[in-house]
Amino acid sequence: MPPETTIRILPESISCQIAAGEIVDRPASVVKELLDNSLDAGSSMIMVDVVEGGKRLIRVTDDGEGMTRADAQLACQRFATSKLSSIEDLLSISTFGFRGEALPSIAAVSKFRLVTAKKDESVGTLLIADGGPVSSVEDHASSPGTRIEIKELFFNTPGRQKFLKSTATEFSHMCHVVQQAALARPSTHFRLTHNNHVVFDFPAVGSLQDRLLQLYGTKLMDLMLPIEFERGAVTVQGIAIHPYHTRTSRTPQEIFVNGRSIKNSTISHAMYEAYGSFLPKGRHPVFAILLEIDPREVDVNVHPSKREVKFSEPDVVHRVVKEAVRRQLQRKSAMLPTEDLHIQEKGWTHQPKSFVDQRGFSGQDAKGGSSVDRDQSSGEMATSSGASKKVVQLFSQDNHEDGVVHEARASYGLDPDYTVRVLGQMSLTYIVAQVGEEFHVVDQHTVHERVLFERLWRSWLEKKVQSQALLIPEPVDVQPHTAALLQSALPELASLGLEMEPFGESAFVLRSVPALLGQMDYAALVQDLVDDLTEWKSLDSIEKRIRPILASMACQGAVQAGRAMVEPEMKLVLEDWVKEGFPMTCPHGRRVTMRFSMDELHRIFRRI
Ligand SMILES: Nc1ncnc2c1ncn2[C@@H]1O[C@H](COP(=O)(O)OP(=O)(O)O)[C@@H](O)[C@H]1O
Ligand SMILES: [Mg+2]
Repeated sequence: MPPETTIRILPESISCQIAAGEIVDRPASVVKELLDNSLDAGSSMIMVDVVEGGKRLIRVTDDGEGMTRADAQLACQRFATSKLSSIEDLLSISTFGFRGEALPSIAAVSKFRLVTAKKDESVGTLLIADGGPVSSVEDHASSPGTRIEIKELFFNTPGRQKFLKSTATEFSHMCHVVQQAALARPSTHFRLTHNNHVVFDFPAVGSLQDRLLQLYGTKLMDLMLPIEFERGAVTVQGIAIHPYHTRTSRTPQEIFVNGRSIKNSTISHAMYEAYGSFLPKGRHPVFAILLEIDPREVDVNVHPSKREVKFSEPDVVHRVVKEAVRRQLQRKSAMLPTEDLHIQEKGWTHQPKSFVDQRGFSGQDAKGGSSVDRDQSSGEMATSSGASKKVVQLFSQDNHEDGVVHEARASYGLDPDYTVRVLGQMSLTYIVAQVGEEFHVVDQHTVHERVLFERLWRSWLEKKVQSQALLIPEPVDVQPHTAALLQSALPELASLGLEMEPFGESAFVLRSVPALLGQMDYAALVQDLVDDLTEWKSLDSIEKRIRPILASMACQGAVQAGRAMVEPEMKLVLEDWVKEGFPMTCPHGRRVTMRFSMDELHRIFRRI
């Protein structure tokens, strides 16, 4: 009798289910694995059909090289792969798959059907597996290629099924995965249907830029800068958002290395560093960046579902990515002043009059010249006690969380009767001014954003949000999976003065906007709103729901950095801010001003 042991080798059925747990955590990850396989098989067209976010059915059909019957049977066994035969191969892998785990793992947790045929075969093969090894192998009519059907994912692992999210959530992950595959291979035609409706259809195109256009549409692409850069063995291609159009959300932020969509902190970090001071707090760059790098410099086998890679020289990658993006941003931002003034017809600077009208500016108020002299002559504030301590506190007040809308509005609590004397605009970004007896450098965007927000908020509280019809209704496209979300929020948005109507599958027309806001980039506004709505459900009170939306409206409605402002505009916005009681931050928590009291200036210059 063999000695009694407590350690046992797990039967294949159990080890497959365990492996499945690492590789297949939701319908989207099944689709990712199947797309990888279809692409590895050299397919020129891939169709993905899903029902109920993939919980009920996932079907991926390709026209790739197909499998012989013997290969198909092998493919469904663990560690069976055609892509790797020695450990050296792993060092220069050029296919998406190589671990030979996907098909058996998926088959272990679903009702699995595979139909496949090689190009020259007259009859194909059907394999059936129901939550385990292949149970049946049959002849089956099939055009060349492979079709895999997954029904009732996790039917035999109720624990996992419980973790599946709503159909909308699962489907939005699915959309994302298919889009990523489409980006990786512009020369392949991709089609996705959900509950028998075509969600997108991207015919094969000749370049990455064309594929990006199919994915993101002209509106977003107009705000993107093309990235094209090569340094040593690293090539960087793709798009990154113009520095003045950064967003409140992180989507899209796509990173590809040698065609593989991955998460990578080195590259993300390099992207954020490239934006540097272009990136206001709470805003994020959006981008799609594709790196080509010698496969020997990248370890792709560090994550079961191949979602991460490791670079042999992360510092080099960091430097190259940062430089690729930085160069383009700098080139653009240097050009911006003239470009913005002449081309951007929606720019705020083109409506000084309407801005002035909306905010009750009238001719008599424009007596900047005389108040200047008055202000200059008085200097009693210089010795007011405790002023410098206050300045120190103010410099350290700016440590809010990203993207949070601040319920309580801290204010400087200065005298609301202070006179404002504008000294000028700096770098098309800051208003330099004297406010009362203080010297201020004010961020033109955050100050305007705060003023607009306060007014919108007040008018919403008083139920008096006035909306203004657009002369020409503005069509806006949204990503297919967010259309339903937006649709469900339309009544509430209408109560905020933003009237929209659905227009086809995933497009809307914007009919009116809050009158306070005037002209702006409506597509960007709707995008920000969609980002807000994504969080919508988790917020309990109506107030918490409304504030982020008003903050997005204010942010989009406010003058952006990079716009020239004329003196009366600057004066007006600062006076409005003074009237609002000098709030210290914009609704997203970013600092409005840097201020020095006379006392502080005197200290700096050692007058006292
Ligand atoms: N759509 C497909 N077309 C052709 N061959 C396929 C397809 N899907 C899977 N295969 C074959 O099955 C094998 C196993 O697939 P998989 O379990 O995903 O492992 P891997 O992709 O890591 O090799 C692949 O190596 C490939 O030879
Ligand atoms: Mg695979």
